[in-house]
Amino acid sequence: MRLDGKVALVTGGSRGIGRAVAIRLAETGAVTYINYHRDENAAQQTCSLIAEEGGVGRISRFDVADYERTQASIGDIIRENGRLDILVNNAGIAVDGLLVRMKESDWDRLIGTNLKGALNCCHAVSRVMIRQKWGRIINIASVVAEAGNAGQAAYAASKAGLLGLTKSLARELASRSICVNAVAPGFIKTDMTAALSVQAKEKILEQIPMSRLGTPEDVAGVVAFLASDEAGYITGQIIRVNGGLYM
Ligand code: NAI
Repeated sequence: MRLDGKVALVTGGSRGIGRAVAIRLAETGAVTYINYHRDENAAQQTCSLIAEEGGVGRISRFDVADYERTQASIGDIIRENGRLDILVNNAGIAVDGLLVRMKESDWDRLIGTNLKGALNCCHAVSRVMIRQKWGRIINIASVVAEAGNAGQAAYAASKAGLLGLTKSLARELASRSICVNAVAPGFIKTDMTAALSVQAKEKILEQIPMSRLGTPEDVAGVVAFLASDEAGYITGQIIRVNGGLYM
C-alpha cells in the first residue's frame, strides 16, 4: 500500500488525528501538506516528525472557513506540484452545550468550520482531481453524526452534513475514479477529548465494547487505506472507527 508520487493535503494537520494522518500518509510516500490555522510551531513539529521518518511534509496556513483564502492556498499547492491527489478534511472544532444555552455565533462557527470548511476544500480540489481522473477525498465525521448526542446538537448537525456531502460528491465524481468517503471516529484520545471529566470518560468507556478510547493512529491507518489504490472500489461509505460504540 504505497502512495509514492501522490500529493496529499490534511486540514488541521498540526495536532491530534490530523497529525497522525499526515505522518501516516507521508510515511506511505505521499508529499503531504499540513494545513494549520494558528499554531505554526505545532505544524512545524508535524513536519519534523515526518522528516525523521524520511517523508516529505510541507505546511500551508489557511482558515478552512474562509472561502477565498482556502481557494487561493489550495490553488498554490496545485500550481507548485501540478496535482493534488488526496484531500483529508479533518479540521474541526467542538463547542458543546445544550442548545437552549448556546449562542447563534457558536453554531455559525461550528457549521462554518466543520461543514462549510470541508465544502470549501472539496470545491478547491475537485477540478484538478477530475482532470487527473484520480482522487481521494476523506471527510472526518463523527459517531455523533449518526447516533446524536445531548449537548452536541450543532456539532452533530455539522458532522451529519458531512455525510450528505460525502455521499453526494461520491456520486458526482465516481466516473472519474475519485472516491469520496467519510471516516466516523468514536472517542479518540486528543486535545478535543482531554477536557472530558473522569466521570464522563468512565461513562463513555462503559459503552465501548473494546473498553478503551481510540488513538489518532487507529484513525490514521483507515484513512491511509482509503487514500490508496486498494480502496478504489469504495466510495460514498461511512467507515466507523469506534471500538464498537455504535454499530
Ligand atoms: P483537535 O482539536 O486536536 O484538532 C483539530 C485541528 O483542526 C486542530 O489542528 C485545529 O487547529 C484545526 N482547525 C480548527 N479550526 C480550523 C480552521 N478554521 N482552519 C484550519 N484548521 C482548523 O481535534 P481532533 O480530536 O484531532 O479532531 C480532528 C477531527 O476529528 C475533527 O474534525 C473532530 O471533529 C473529529 N473527531 C474527533 C473525535 C475525538 O474523539 N477526538 C471524535 C470524532 C470526530
